[in-house]
Amino acid sequence: MKGAKRILFILGAMAVAIIILSRCMNTADKLPTDIRGEAYAGAVTCVKCHKDLSQSYAHSPHGLTSKPVVDAALLKVFAPDSNRFLFNAHQNVVIEKRDSGIFQVAYQDGKAVRAQKFDFQFGSGEKAFTYAYWKGKKLYELPLSYFSTIQNWAISPGFPKESFYYDRAITSRCLECHASYVDIKLTQQSTFSKDEEMEKGSVIYGIDCERCHGPGKQHVVFHMENPEEKTAKFITLYKTLTRKQKMDVCAVCHSGNTLVAQRSVFGFQPGDDLDAYYSQDFVGFGGGNIDVHGNQSAMLMGSNCYRKSETMTCQSCHNTHENIKGNLSLYSQRCINCHKSTNHSKATLAKGSLSSNCIDCHMPKESSKLITFQQAGKDHLSPYMLRSHHIAIYPVIK
Ligand code: HEC
Ligand code: HEC
Ligand code: HEC
Ligand code: HEC
Ligand code: HEC
Ligand code: HEC
Ligand code: HEC
Repeated sequence: MKGAKRILFILGAMAVAIIILSRCMNTADKLPTDIRGEAYAGAVTCVKCHKDLSQSYAHSPHGLTSKPVVDAALLKVFAPDSNRFLFNAHQNVVIEKRDSGIFQVAYQDGKAVRAQKFDFQFGSGEKAFTYAYWKGKKLYELPLSYFSTIQNWAISPGFPKESFYYDRAITSRCLECHASYVDIKLTQQSTFSKDEEMEKGSVIYGIDCERCHGPGKQHVVFHMENPEEKTAKFITLYKTLTRKQKMDVCAVCHSGNTLVAQRSVFGFQPGDDLDAYYSQDFVGFGGGNIDVHGNQSAMLMGSNCYRKSETMTCQSCHNTHENIKGNLSLYSQRCINCHKSTNHSKATLAKGSLSSNCIDCHMPKESSKLITFQQAGKDHLSPYMLRSHHIAIYPVIK
């Protein structure tokens, strides 16, 4: 009897303490913490008030562009009969399910000589998936990638085609464009080399709200405490940004792979000047060597539409919150917003359906000079096709 009373008393005291404590805690303390720091709230919190946007985001290529590998999802990707890649008569790589996960296993004359697990997935699969495995605090790329155009495995871009290779390190630079955060520690740095360790548990996969909108904790706290306020506070409004600032937000990741980052672009916020992050790119600009892969910014900025208008930005055609992929007539409407009337020759007009597809003629798909991939048994490399963002008059294909 005495014992039961004591327990009741303790429970009562605990309940009172919890009530008092929760009253003392302010709104900010009630929110989950975010590894990027005090100023961040995390996408889970944004979802609470921006449900519609968040739902579209969850299925968007930005949101899905990196993930930890889940076996069940991976098994959907490959058909059981196409899980082998032959390099030559002696060497092949097989995708195998084992007890501890799914592996890319290298065979030399029928004997397994190397096996690494699928840990990390790059790409939403729009065009491709590339995979990596963790070894301690480092990530390495797996020899085979999956390409959506051929719906099959091929050698990862840039890898040797003679034999399997497992030792290409993936740096935090890939994650800067394909994820939202990773904690890194520089273990060695000199003029010519940089060595880093990445903390696996700190990765925030996908490109989340705060990568494009900046840290939002203060915004969240304000709107939680002032639910009647319908005007956004403490968050950068895109409509107040200059054209360069708007372009910079996308150029963080869409201005090519040749830029040298002076400091991590994980910290970039809308409104910042990107020139403070990247040093001048001598390869991309001026040289006419701009690639369709990953460098939509420079391609677009070289077009007359961009140069001769004062307002064109990526947002003239793309709303990152809606998916209109493949809807070329809707995209053409965006051209018509500026080009109310056009002067096409009779010959061009004869090609028909002019108003519903400006894109294929003026933004044709081109193959990347940087990325090609090797299919099994083919003696040529397969092209990796992307929309050219150099809007111009091209020779018309029939
Ligand atoms: C407690 C509710 C709440 C939460 C949580 C919240 N917001 Fe908002 N947000 C609002 C309200 C209210 C507005 C103003 C009305 C509107 O535009 O929808 C707004 C507007 C915005 C805008 C539009 C600004 C503009 O251009 O007009 C952005 C961007 C935004 N929020 C981003 C975020 C991000 C990123 C997060 C997560 C870090 C977040 N919000 C979390 C309530 C919230
Ligand atoms: C790839 C970059 C990117 C990501 C990721 C992103 N946004 Fe946006 N968002 C934008 C841009 C750019 C605009 C401005 C669109 C415009 O004004 O044309 C915008 C506009 C908004 C707006 C106001 C306009 C509207 O459509 O209502 C809200 C609210 C918003 N975003 C919230 C979010 C939330 C919440 C997330 C995460 C679930 C998120 N955003 C993820 C780039 C992004
Ligand atoms: C943090 C890096 C990052 C930022 C910032 C970013 N993107 Fe992207 N974007 C990517 C990556 C990576 C992909 C490839 C996603 C995939 O399919 O795996 C992509 C894909 C896309 C696509 C093709 C897929 C689709 O959604 O149709 C468009 C269009 C696009 N981005 C536009 C933009 C625009 C516009 C902005 C600026 C508002 C922007 N991006 C900002 C990294 C970024
Ligand atoms: C400077 C930013 C940047 C860096 C660095 C970068 N990427 Fe990308 N990546 C992009 C963008 C943007 C796209 C999509 C648009 C395109 O291809 O032009 C993309 C596309 C991809 C895709 C295809 C996604 C799809 O399904 O469409 C894969 C896979 C990929 N990248 C993997 C990697 C890997 C692995 C690394 C590091 C070795 C890397 N990327 C480094 C920006 C980057
Ligand atoms: C923000 C407004 C704007 C948008 C959106 C726009 N353009 Fe333009 N475009 C211009 C301007 C301004 C010019 C230069 C006209 C001139 O030289 O008088 C131009 C020039 C052109 C030219 C001539 C190119 C050359 O090199 O001479 C073509 C072709 C063209 N645009 C096609 C398109 C197509 C196709 C789209 C949609 C994918 C599009 N534009 C979207 C503003 C725009
Ligand atoms: C069948 C291919 C084709 C289609 C479809 C097409 N164009 Fe063109 N466009 C051309 C060619 C070729 C020229 C050069 C003039 C000529 O030979 O007709 C041109 C010229 C232009 C010009 C420069 C001349 C001018 O009017 O100032 C603009 C702008 C333009 N197109 C915009 C558009 C827009 C916007 C659409 C969609 C509504 C579109 N085009 C659809 C092939 C095409
Ligand atoms: C004049 C219109 C226009 C502008 C401006 C524009 N894009 Fe695009 N973009 C398109 C069209 C059209 C497609 C093809 C869409 C499709 O096939 O569904 C596309 C596709 C893409 C893709 C997917 C790559 C591919 O080949 O599938 C990416 C990434 C992209 N745009 C990024 C950007 C970025 C970043 C900017 C700003 C630097 C930008 N775009 C500006 C019209 C535009």
